[in-house]
Amino acid sequence: MKIVKTIDEVRAQVKEWRAQGLTVGLVPTMGYLHEGHASLIDASHRDNDRTVVSDFVNPMQFGPTEDLESYPRDIEHDAALVEAHGGDLIFNPEPSEMYHEGFSSFVDMTVLTQELCGLSRPVHFRGVCTVVSKLFNIVKPDRAYFGKKDAQQLAVIRHMVDDLNMDIEIIGCPIIREDDGLAKSSRNTYLNEAERKAALVLSQAISLGKDMVSNGEKNCGTIIDAMTKHINAEPLAKIDYVKIVDCATMQQIKELDRPALCAMAVYIGKTRLIDNFFTEDV
Ligand code: PAF
Repeated sequence: MKIVKTIDEVRAQVKEWRAQGLTVGLVPTMGYLHEGHASLIDASHRDNDRTVVSDFVNPMQFGPTEDLESYPRDIEHDAALVEAHGGDLIFNPEPSEMYHEGFSSFVDMTVLTQELCGLSRPVHFRGVCTVVSKLFNIVKPDRAYFGKKDAQQLAVIRHMVDDLNMDIEIIGCPIIREDDGLAKSSRNTYLNEAERKAALVLSQAISLGKDMVSNGEKNCGTIIDAMTKHINAEPLAKIDYVKIVDCATMQQIKELDRPALCAMAVYIGKTRLIDNFFTEDV
């Protein structure tokens, strides 16, 4: 397993693999890897001959008041995890390698980014689409792997790949949870002991919503109200949004009459956490 810092080194390695007729999977990450990322690397290792993991805290997807500076980083820990899960190459560039002086081209998207996280993080998806497009151009993978915890991101990337005719298969992988239900996230490390306990309201509300759907509830308002009430009972929690949207358009719906995504973002203290479920998975 190798760690490289430049685009040229990635391209040289992938070219060598291609010359041997090997397939390549890409797992884009911002590092500080946990079991959620490990499951993506496992999936890529299963489906492809070689796996590249990008490990880059992308400044472009953070707003001015967000946690770019404090975002956790630990390349040695990441390297051990990638190696243990069969990854072959880590691409760990400096921001200047990805965004040279005078950088001025962006990939942006309308509609799908105008709801959910796109409302409270207005520059986020432009940063994600731009960096993911660049990673796709650098690695030119056969397949790329993304977690369903960032469900809107997954929908946005699928849409971008379709709109821009990128010849890459996008694979969405299930949310990985702690034993008590909290969705794994690099941002969980920000939580103190009391906040870690309080953060359970997210997965509890998800279970509540899922139960209502499996018991036949079709009214989105009723489901959202019950989930909201549960979260609001926790003093350390502050809801950014709890919404039910059409899976394809990410626009809010009133009735569960099509495949839908129930998604939430909740502040626990200063930490913004997300969680969701797809009604089709219930
Ligand atoms: O999901 C993430 O970690 C990031 O948004 C991604 C896809 C690696 C782009 O920076």
